Amino acid sequence: MERKITILGIESSCDDTSAAVLQGGVVLSNVIASQKVHEAYGGVVPELASRAHQQNIIPVVSEALKRAGVEAKEVTAVAFTRGPGLLGSLLVGVSFAKGFAIANRIPLIEVNHLQAHILANFIKEPGVENRHPSFPFLTLLVSGGNSQLIVVRDYLDMEMIGQTIDDAAGEAFDKCAKVMGLPYPGGPVIDRLAKEGDANRFTFNKPQIPGLDYSFSGLKTSFLYFLRDRLKENPHFIQENLNDLCASLQKTVVDILMSKLKKAAKQTGIRQIAIGGGVSANSALQQAVHDEAARAGWEVFIPRLGFSVDNAGMVATTGYYKYLAGQFIGLDAAPFARTTLE
Ligand code: KG4
Repeated sequence: MERKITILGIESSCDDTSAAVLQGGVVLSNVIASQKVHEAYGGVVPELASRAHQQNIIPVVSEALKRAGVEAKEVTAVAFTRGPGLLGSLLVGVSFAKGFAIANRIPLIEVNHLQAHILANFIKEPGVENRHPSFPFLTLLVSGGNSQLIVVRDYLDMEMIGQTIDDAAGEAFDKCAKVMGLPYPGGPVIDRLAKEGDANRFTFNKPQIPGLDYSFSGLKTSFLYFLRDRLKENPHFIQENLNDLCASLQKTVVDILMSKLKKAAKQTGIRQIAIGGGVSANSALQQAVHDEAARAGWEVFIPRLGFSVDNAGMVATTGYYKYLAGQFIGLDAAPFARTTLE
């Protein structure tokens, strides 16, 4: 009897260790172990991340197989995130995937992390109807490490048309949160505090970058200098204005993201819009995308929360399409820290 295509997906590019099992195109399990160890440092510490991946990887894979009701010997291929990401973190997932492939005599599939975030829109879960964009569509990918605009022509045919030239949007949230003394990761905290604040109270510098590229390092610096000056006059400035600061900062980030997304939609003529990555959970960004959708006739797609953050369900799903296309890789595959989609 022919075995059903069963893919074990492994994701370890940053600070989440994740494993997922996909069978017959459907994601049966998606286990994510987030690393709390970084909270004390206000950002991801690469060496600590790779050590935590080493501790997490075996229990996370075991749990994913158990929840899926699948045994290791039933897996037909193992798909792993090869990059981009933190090299030490990636190495753990890549090495585990190779060991698993050798032990079970199955092929390996490399997955580009960015491509996986995009294909998260196509994740199928048992009993859940999947509403997904049709090709071509435009993706805004925004996370702690990425801010990109990508045209998606097919599952495995994508072109990056804009990207950040310095920090990512999530990094801007996290770094500004740190300056205000808020815990890491700062994005969700700012989102929550901004709900009670006046988004028009303060204005911060917006970058003047040509084309479809982004820049967030200037905003971070402008925010830092603004606070430094105000704190000289009033040492309690942050506490007394926290909600307005969060709301104004969030509005600035969202305005920057939206201006290039609108420009890209106009230039390409595409009105199917997907947003992904951790920052896509931001309520103001979601609101702005939906407002623009109503105005410009866009159709919007956002993967549900567990699949918009770093997860192996998206890696297994990408692995599935690469399996169907016969795209495998040898045991000599090394991880890479940086890459484009091409
Ligand atoms: O995709 P993701 O889980 O992984 C990494 O890139 O590491 O994204 C994490 C990023 C962090 O920068 C976090 O602050 C941001 O996503 N984030 C948010 C929100 N939820 C997560 N930023 C703004 N608003 C949110 N609600």
